[in-house]
Amino acid sequence: MNIKGSKVLITGANRGIGLSLAKELDERGAFVTLAMRNPDSFDLKEQGLSERAQSVALDMGSFEKIESFANEHANSDWDILVNNAGQLTGGLLEEQDTQSIYQMFQVNLIGLTHLTQRMLPPMIKRGKGKIVNNASVSGVMHLPCAATYAAAKTGVVALTNSLSLELKGTRVTTLTLITPGIKTRMFDQISEMYGEHLDVSSLSSISPEEYARKVCKSIEKDCLFFHPGGSVAVALWMARHIPWLFRRLATIGFKR
Ligand SMILES: NC(=O)c1ccc[n+]([C@@H]2O[C@H](COP(=O)([O-])OP(=O)(O)OC[C@H]3O[C@@H](n4cnc5c(N)ncnc54)[C@H](OP(=O)(O)O)[C@@H]3O)[C@@H](O)[C@H]2O)c1
Repeated sequence: MNIKGSKVLITGANRGIGLSLAKELDERGAFVTLAMRNPDSFDLKEQGLSERAQSVALDMGSFEKIESFANEHANSDWDILVNNAGQLTGGLLEEQDTQSIYQMFQVNLIGLTHLTQRMLPPMIKRGKGKIVNNASVSGVMHLPCAATYAAAKTGVVALTNSLSLELKGTRVTTLTLITPGIKTRMFDQISEMYGEHLDVSSLSSISPEEYARKVCKSIEKDCLFFHPGGSVAVALWMARHIPWLFRRLATIGFKR
């Protein structure tokens, strides 16, 4: 899909991957709408975004807010929806905060499903569109301490796989991001949440700016998936093809 001139809606666009992607798409000539919880405390100009960019309020943790956003934009002509907003949960399942688990599922999976459901009809009607869902390596490689987060991200992968088949013949396509470690606030939270029970010292990351360029390439090439390379790719391959070995290696740095 051509990025230049296309209209893009990105959730969780005030920082991290969402903001870097918004900037990269903006630089490439897209009309970017940055959705975030608090647009009043976000300055588009200060962030170096062009006059084409705009911000809107959208809390992905609330059924009512997603519903009223969707009603307000029922006749929208966004070409690309990037479901990026996300929260992290982690640690031993019985020790995780239950309210945070509910909220994380709401934002990472249920809200994403709700917004996608409401943004699709105008895309299908116009015969043009792309749904970009930010999943994670945790959606295909299940480590200890990540049970809840991995469950939500696996759900995102499954939802997007199924949807891509349903969309056959509509000219609306999907892109699943099997996102690896990206140096954002969430990446720093991994050691805080998982570090007590799991050795996360060998986790690697790339900058959100570099990742945004890779995601844009995948959009332009109409890829179905973005898969990371390097050692993460080896781990993903092992999780899929040699699960017994993956299970053994995945628990080496784990203690209850
Ligand atoms: N960083 C990684 O290593 C990594 C790896 C795999 C996948 N991912 C995925 O990439 C996505 C972006 O994460 P990130 O690394 O950029 O993390 P981040 O810097 O923590 O950013 C998370 C973004 O999600 C937004 N968000 C959280 N709850 C929200 C809600 N209820 N409504 C609307 N927006 C909400 C945050 O907004 P506020 O500022 O309002 O909180 C923020 O903009 C997430 O889906 C994450 O799961 C990240």
